[in-house]
Parts: sequence; structure tokens; C-alpha cells
Amino acid sequence: MRVQVVIIGAGPAGLLLGQCLLREGIDAVVLESRTREHVLGRIRAGVLESGTVALLERVGVAERLHAEGLVHEGFDIAFAGGRTRIDLAGLTGKTVTVYGQTEITRDLMDARAAAGAKTLYEAQVLPEGFEGSKPTVRFVKDGKNHSIECDFIAGCDGFHGISRASVPAGALRTCERVYPFGWMGVLADTPPVSEELIYVSHERGFALCSQRSRTRSRYYVQCPLSEQVDEWPDERFWAELRRRLPEDAAAGLATGASIEKSIAPLRSFVAEPLSFGRLFLAGDAGHIVPPTGAKGLNLAASDVHYLAEGLISFYKEKSSSELECYSQKALARVWKAERFSWWMTKLLHRFPEEGDFGRRMQLAELEYISGSRAAQTALAENYVGLPY
Ligand code: PHB
Repeated sequence: MRVQVVIIGAGPAGLLLGQCLLREGIDAVVLESRTREHVLGRIRAGVLESGTVALLERVGVAERLHAEGLVHEGFDIAFAGGRTRIDLAGLTGKTVTVYGQTEITRDLMDARAAAGAKTLYEAQVLPEGFEGSKPTVRFVKDGKNHSIECDFIAGCDGFHGISRASVPAGALRTCERVYPFGWMGVLADTPPVSEELIYVSHERGFALCSQRSRTRSRYYVQCPLSEQVDEWPDERFWAELRRRLPEDAAAGLATGASIEKSIAPLRSFVAEPLSFGRLFLAGDAGHIVPPTGAKGLNLAASDVHYLAEGLISFYKEKSSSELECYSQKALARVWKAERFSWWMTKLLHRFPEEGDFGRRMQLAELEYISGSRAAQTALAENYVGLPY
């Protein structure tokens, strides 16, 4: 079998790239090591930059997003008993859309199925030969060996995927920071405590009130990495969240049985370059941000935008110059989002090892932001997404 592009990974990055190529008549197959149900079962962030929404519109998968997604014009930062609203729309003229990653994945899966495009699940893949001009992806499915020859391989298989791991040691530089805490997250069918998101910096640790719809909430509290999900029965979670919220929010918090509960570690990570011969890394396969800035999915979308541009220009204009710039263009945006995500993480979490001085610096910065339109604009500009 031969195709133009093999896409490894059927998460949002891989499926979105598949959709971009499908619209241009470029022949691609998507291979995924897990099942469709596993991919859909992963609960991830849900805040989309307007650039991400625009890309989803361009490739024809924004209908349900527009019907069900919630447009947010701002969010709150709560600290020291008060709250500051960051007026995204007023400061930048842009908004964000709350729509779960799971829903985007489902929409992309449906679009792919409707077009009759191929996604092979439970395929254990091995990318080969991408240093030369004839890459091959070998894979095992249902106990049988297969191989696909292609022009290019897109590695969209996440941080733990085989794509980045297949690049010879020494060809990639990596930069990493692991944070000394995690996020304990709960999804519940309760009305969100507030119409807009609330990011909370509290002595007991960070908390976040997010949502998926008007009837489904997503909440997080910072927790030690040593803790396990089973140490967090619902009652403990709700009590801890309530203690960290501003009083009015705590009073209005509707609690209920959790429908998903998990602890996520926080990490900043970048691999450079994002291309190696005819293998291109996109999304979490190439970089990770801590979730505090809501940038992970949005960065996957901008990577896919640049990569799709490169592949389309290769096939339509017989030019490889865009593809050659892929890594450089994508990384320029990635590093800025890394900076913003790291900064939001440092600003809002409790770092006990930083002591009282560290905490006073956070509070001084939060107060500065509260009183400065310039500081709020810088924050808002990054939160709604830098241009690409
Ligand atoms: C979420 O809704 O899961 C979410 C929202 C904003 C963030 C991180 C996660 O910054």
C-alpha cells in the first residue's frame, strides 16, 4: 500500500491534519495505537482560541462547535479574597470558545467517517526510512504485519508516542521543566459556579473553575504529586475546592457525583527541531505546556496549520520551501505559548519551596495586574492566542 501522507495518532492533532489534507485531495491514512473509545474517553481542556475556531471552520467541522460552544468574553483571577476580571473582548477585541477537546475529536472522527477516509485503530506502528526519500510505516494490526510507503510521516501521537522516540538520539534537543505538583480534576453534571472561568491563587494552592456546558462543570485543585485519585473521594474534592474559592463563589458552588476524576502532572517540554527528514512532529509529540494557560490544544492546531500549509504547497505548487520552514515557524509560536503557560503556572500556584518571599512576589504581581490595563492587555493578548 502507498499513500502520500501517513499520520500517526488519531487525537485532535492527527485528525485535524487529516481533515486539512482531505479538503485538498491529499491522500492520507491515520494510524492509532489505541481504540476509538479510548481516544474519546480522554478528558482534556476545552478553551479554544479564535484562531483554532477559524481553522476548524475553514475545514468544515465547526457546525456543532458553533451550536454548542460557549463564547467567553473574559475570565476572573481570584486572589486574597478578591477578584479581577480580565476583559478579553474589551482588551483585545477577541473571545475564546469553551468546547471540549473530546467534542472536537468526535466531530473530526464523524467528518472523516462521512468522507470515507481511513483511520486504523489498534495499530502498533513503526516509522522507518524518514531520513531518506522513501519513508515507510510498518504496523501490526490484528496480529498481522502491514507496511505503508509514503512521501511524509506526520507524528501526531502525543508525548509518549513512537514518532519522537523514533528520531535517532542526538538529532533532537529537548528542554524540560517538571513542576512539583499536579492538578486533581473533576468533571460533574452540575451547573458551573460562574458564567466565566475563575483562576484562583490561594494559600492552599491553585484552583480552577471551568466548564463544558451550562450543565457540566470541570474543576481542578492543585495537589501534591504523591497523592492518588483514590485519596480524593468527591467530598474531599468539593470541600477543598470550596475552601480555595472566593466567598460568593463558594456559597454558590453546586456539587454532585463526579463523572470523571484524574490527576494530571504539569510539565513544560519542547523538542527541537520539529522535523527530521520526512518526519514532522505536531502537537504534544513535539511539546507540552502546563494547562494553566489553556494552550495545549491550541498549539496543536497552529502546528497543524503550518504543517498542512507545507504539505499543500508541496503537492499543489511542487515547492518544499514551506515544509522546510515548518519547524522554525511552529516553534516560534510554541516558545511564546510555553512562556505564557510557564508564567501563568508560576503566578497562580503555591510553590512551598519559594517561601514567604515567593508568595509576596506573586501577590504583588497579581495586584499589579489588577490595577494595570497594560498588564491585563499583555495577559489577555496571550490568552486569546498570538496570531499565526
Ligand atoms: C478545562 O476546562 O479543562 C481547562 C480550562 C482552562 C485551563 C485548563 C483546563 O487553563
